[in-house]
Amino acid sequence: MTKIIDKSNLSDAALCLKNGGTVVFPTETVYGLGADALKEESVDKIYAAKGRPSDNPLIIHIADKEDIKNIALEITDDAQKLIDAFWPGPLTMIFKKRPEINNKVTANLNTVAVRCPVNEIARELIRQSGVYVAAPSANLSGSPSPTTLKHVVDDLDGRVDYIIDGTGCEIGIESTVLDVSGDEFKILRPGKITFDDIKKVTERIKNDYIDIKNVKTAQCPGMKYTHYSPKAKVIVVEGDIDKTKSYIQEKLDSKKDTTGVIAYKNSNFENSDFTVCFSDMNEYAAMLYETLRIFDEKNVKTIYAQFKEESGIGVAVKNRIYKSAGYDVINL
Ligand code: TXA
Ligand code: MG
Repeated sequence: MTKIIDKSNLSDAALCLKNGGTVVFPTETVYGLGADALKEESVDKIYAAKGRPSDNPLIIHIADKEDIKNIALEITDDAQKLIDAFWPGPLTMIFKKRPEINNKVTANLNTVAVRCPVNEIARELIRQSGVYVAAPSANLSGSPSPTTLKHVVDDLDGRVDYIIDGTGCEIGIESTVLDVSGDEFKILRPGKITFDDIKKVTERIKNDYIDIKNVKTAQCPGMKYTHYSPKAKVIVVEGDIDKTKSYIQEKLDSKKDTTGVIAYKNSNFENSDFTVCFSDMNEYAAMLYETLRIFDEKNVKTIYAQFKEESGIGVAVKNRIYKSAGYDVINL
């Protein structure tokens, strides 16, 4: 049975982690499904609870950034600068792994993903447990990452030992994943910490992340799976706001199914069954997964997501909506 507990009562959950169990906890990005990263049997429980393929490696979460030296084989000066600049925070870094890190958590790669979250509940839980915590997003594999307690309960009640009811997830999409294991640093998954943020700290990053329509890039092993997908069919309508608005309005005028619209910059739509409007990219990121889940609950069959390319966190929003649409993108 899953116990749902309050953040004021972390000690039982921390003990559960220490003893090899599974605990869902909030972070500043999305909820994570945690277990002891250094115990293979515990890591197995994560894959089982999520229904996640075991060739998709996990991020190890630490509360104290000094602990990185026990996980990474080498930390270059530039990687250290990034740690100093962005930890604790929503940046995951890929390092060459120390030999004692098990192959379950890294899915047999010789690298390991590590992140030091800023969310206080996450940090306190990890600290109290005394273990490093492997944690993917706490959703069933394939569905959008959870940003509220309800999302977690809908997906994982009965499949984990503890769920912590906490505040957080204000960013709303997963951390930036940056590979710092080679000479050139590469963004494998865009997020709140942007290319420009990283570039200010190190010259070893040359290019921003590029999402290419119809090309399912699989730089992070996990990125090759259909991710972030609701049950509804998502169609991204991208480009000039007036053009995308007219295109979506035409579709709504001849729609046959229950249809939802994610509107951008205050576009108004008629004949839409449900419309949610985002006024900037931070809001788009914060509310995207919640909106996809609400549309599913309302039995929406088709979702038109109006989108306009933007730098910064817009790169991450684009990546997530492209993926939830299975790269079904209309460019106008
Ligand atoms: O914000 C986040 O990062 C959340 C919270 C809970 O911390 N976690 C999260 O974990 O999004 P997950 O498992 O859903 O996504 C981790 C991504 C996957 O795409 C995985 O393939 C990639 O990181 N990854 C993990 N280890 C890797 C490695 N050694 N090399 C390349 N990619 C790796
Ligand atoms: Mg995930």
